[in-house]
Amino acid sequence: MKLLRRGSEFSIRVANTELMNSRIYGSEDALAELSCERMADRDGRLLIGGLGMGYTLAGVLSRVGPKASVVVAELVPAVVAWNRNEMAELNGAALEDPRVTVREANVLDVIRAEKNAYDAILLDVDNGPSALVSKTNDRIYSPTGLAASYAALRRGGTLAVWSADHDPAFTRRLKQAGFEVEARNVRARGRAGGSRYLVWLAKRS
Ligand SMILES: C[S@@+](CC[C@H](N)C(=O)[O-])C[C@H]1O[C@@H](n2cnc3c(N)ncnc32)[C@H](O)[C@@H]1O
Repeated sequence: MKLLRRGSEFSIRVANTELMNSRIYGSEDALAELSCERMADRDGRLLIGGLGMGYTLAGVLSRVGPKASVVVAELVPAVVAWNRNEMAELNGAALEDPRVTVREANVLDVIRAEKNAYDAILLDVDNGPSALVSKTNDRIYSPTGLAASYAALRRGGTLAVWSADHDPAFTRRLKQAGFEVEARNVRARGRAGGSRYLVWLAKRS
């Protein structure tokens, strides 16, 4: 993974694929908005995986209450360091917010560590429900990975998954895991439009 900078613009690349560009964050914010509006308790507990440029985290922090607790799981320690230093200006130094706890860890391990623990789990770790950053990420989207997310959520909690594409097989797996599933279209540049992406909102019933 590489961080590139041109003036005030940042790009994170994995091999030759651009994972994120700092100028485009409408869908990362939509992931936060759609997840937070489903929370019964604005002072609840959320898990975000991964950190990226911190836009989803900043979006969550602007919408939850002062007593909320946000765990961020990020696989790549350099990404955490970039957010504390070079990229802090992008997300309002979100990692310094006292409601935030950062875990330099695989989000699946964090999911598996607790049961009935979260009101929302927000996943934006790949380009969708198939591995990109790390081959082992496929486990997150597998039936056992989804069962772990189901168990980690509190009743009524939401698993929200960002994706570049539709994936009917993943929708089926979510339903088979027991979730009530909704898929929402989101845009790369928010109200200004841009590329079309998708967020699955899977509710633990
Ligand atoms: C597309 S970026 C996330 C963008 C983020 N939503 C934002 O607002 O900037 C994907 C991030 O997930 C991280 N990641 C990938 N696999 C992971 C895993 N298994 N556990 C935790 N973080 C992971 C990557 O290192 C990268 O920082």
